[in-house]
Formats: sequence, C-alpha cells, structure tokens
Amino acid sequence: MNKLTVRDVALRGRKVFCRVDFNVPLSGGRVADDTRIRASIPTISYLTGQGARVVLASHLGRPKGQPRPEFRLDPVAEPLRKLLQRPVRKVDDCVGPAVRRAVDELGDGDVLLLENLRFHHGEEKNDPRFAEELASGAEVFVNDAFGAAHRAHASTEGITHYLPAVAGFLMERELEALGKALEAPERPFGAIIGGAKVSDKIQVLDNLISKVDVLLIGGGMANTFLRARGLGTGDSLVEEDKVPLAGELLRRSADRGITLLLPVDLVAATALDPKAQRQVVSAEAIPPGWRALDIGPRTREQFAEAIAGLKTALWNGPMGVFEVEPFAAGTRAVAQALAASGAMTVVGGGDSVAAVEEAGLAGRMGHISTGGGASLEFLEGKTLPGVAALLDRGATLPPALTKGE
Ligand code: 3PG
Repeated sequence: MNKLTVRDVALRGRKVFCRVDFNVPLSGGRVADDTRIRASIPTISYLTGQGARVVLASHLGRPKGQPRPEFRLDPVAEPLRKLLQRPVRKVDDCVGPAVRRAVDELGDGDVLLLENLRFHHGEEKNDPRFAEELASGAEVFVNDAFGAAHRAHASTEGITHYLPAVAGFLMERELEALGKALEAPERPFGAIIGGAKVSDKIQVLDNLISKVDVLLIGGGMANTFLRARGLGTGDSLVEEDKVPLAGELLRRSADRGITLLLPVDLVAATALDPKAQRQVVSAEAIPPGWRALDIGPRTREQFAEAIAGLKTALWNGPMGVFEVEPFAAGTRAVAQALAASGAMTVVGGGDSVAAVEEAGLAGRMGHISTGGGASLEFLEGKTLPGVAALLDRGATLPPALTKGE
C-alpha cells in the first residue's frame, strides 16, 4: 500500500475528519449487523488513543439528498459507544453552525458522530462547496471507508482538495489483502466466481483471467458458460446476449492454459421454491422445464479438490440461490473448502460474505472485505477514487501534522 496512513500523522490535539462506512443494515430502528462498525474500531481507538479530536462521518442508505428519519445515524451511536467504551456525541447534521460548535467543543480523545452525509445533495454530487464545508473545522482527513471508496463523493474525494488525506487501518488492510491477492499472490492462485449474472462480473472475469491459475465458475452465471459450450440448459437463467462473450472468456482461459472448471452437475428444480420438485442433473443436459439453482454434489467435490490445492483463493459470488435452503449446499461447500484449505483466502462481495458468516466460518478466512461494490470494482482492476485521492507515501505533511523523529 503506497499511501500515507494514520500512523504517519502527529495527531495529539488535531481535529480529524474521519470518513467511515457505517452503512449498516437496520431492523426495527436498531443495527442488525454491526460488522462495519466493528471494523472501524481499530482506527477510531487509535485516533482517540493518540489524543486526536475525532469527527466521524458516514452515509447510511440512499436518502437522495433529503433528511429522512429512517436513515438517521442515531442507531449507530449506541453500539459505537459500547465498542469504543467511551462517550460519543451525536449531532443532527453534518455541516452548519451547530456542527462547528460541537467540533470546537471537542477535547483531546473525544468523539463526535455527524448525521448522514447523504442528507445533502452536495455529498453525492461531489460539490466542492459542500466538501469545503465538511473540511472546514478539521485539520486532517482520514479515510477508513473502504466500502465507499469507489464513490467520488464530497466526503471521499472532494474533501481531499481541502485537507491532507491519509488512510485508516481498515482501508489499509483491505487494500493490502485485495491488492496482494491480485498483484503478488502465492501460487497456485485461484478465483471462485459466482452470482446470478455474467453481466455483473464481466470485468472481474476479464481482469482475473490474466492473473489466476485456476478459475471456478458457479452460480446462475455458469449457465451462460454451459450454453457457450453448446450444452442444453433447460429453463435455467441464461443471458443469451452474453453467450458469445462467455465463449470468448473460455477461449482466452484455454489460451492461457488456466484450469477452468464449470459445474458438471447441478441441483435443478421446476421453480425457485423450496417446495418445488428438484433433482440432481448432469450439466450435459438440463431437461426442459427444469432450472439449475445450485451446483451439484460432484461439482462440490471437484471444486473442493481444486480449492485444496490453492495457495491463494479469492471468492466472489454464491454458487446457487443460497438464501433458499435446498439450494444452499454449493455455496456452503465452497465456504467449507476455503476454511479447510491452507490458502490465503480473500472473500469479497456482499453475498459470499453473508454465506461465510451464515456458515459460521468468518473467523477461518484470511480476509473478508467490508466492501460490496468497492471490492468488486477493485477486482475489476479499476482505480477507486477514494483511494487515488489519498496522499502517496513520501508526500510531505504540513508541519503541524509531521511526526517528530
Ligand atoms: C456499500 O454498502 O456497498 C457502501 O456503503 C456503498 O453504498 P452505496 O452503494 O449506497 O454507495
């Protein structure tokens, strides 16, 4: 990671604007999954421990520039206080005189939580005036919101034009884990790619085909590849317009000599319904009237065997409709195979992360990304604007932020 981090900054008494990703699921006005809050604690604790005056800012949901009560960040404040074991003051806006006063009242090591950034249009529009207003009370910007780093918004990109910008620990950890997997993996390096549609993963596949030794393809998108191999796919979801592209990706992987595995058998049903009739069918011929909804037992074995031979494994996307129990075994089998492998395992993307957590295997993965869209764009090989905007290692900080020898 070639960016400056919080470690490089003299923080005592400094006002720090820290962008976090507290875009967490809520249920009945409470935080239903605090993973992202927990993931931000090392940075916040470090900042408070160093005596910084910490201003936390996040988006929550997509309120589209309007203050909407269901998207207030108040439900986040309580779990945050508990996890930090210190008071956290919450204000009802993220800019304006009341916020400025609250920032001015902070003492060393205090924490202030601002209201949802997306209550203002300026955030998503990356309006320079809004970015300048966000920056106005602070002396340094810390970006720990990897999950929002693919957005060029005022609080992720715009603000860096007004404050020296460095990475937090979560941002650093994400960039190192995903970056090492892509750029300097221990080999053999394999990727397990799933999900419903090829169209969602074209760029990821395109980027990975030039890097991996092994590629396993499952999920709904595998049907489009089976069709490209000339097989019958019954009533399965197939993106007809993507069949030529799937064929092209198969050819490219053959040219590169990589091991590409598609399902050899599938769990098929007459409908996406746990009560529907189902059977295991050969991938050679899914009968008309049946749709593939998960990889089958022989495929689970083959995939597990391939995963066992890897030194680095990257997983993005479920192998079937894992939310529906009869079609969850394939995704679970991949999670188990990854947990049992000696490989450095990196899990990116919302659904595969949910599957790992549901299987109780999160603790056995090397790295689980907190980013959905952000990790996908990273795997596509794109530059994330929130990362690009951070100061490079070697950049000079203003004297007040420069650490003594
Ligand atoms: C996420 O949940 O992936 C991030 O918080 C980004 O949210 P967004 O897709 O609403 O920008």
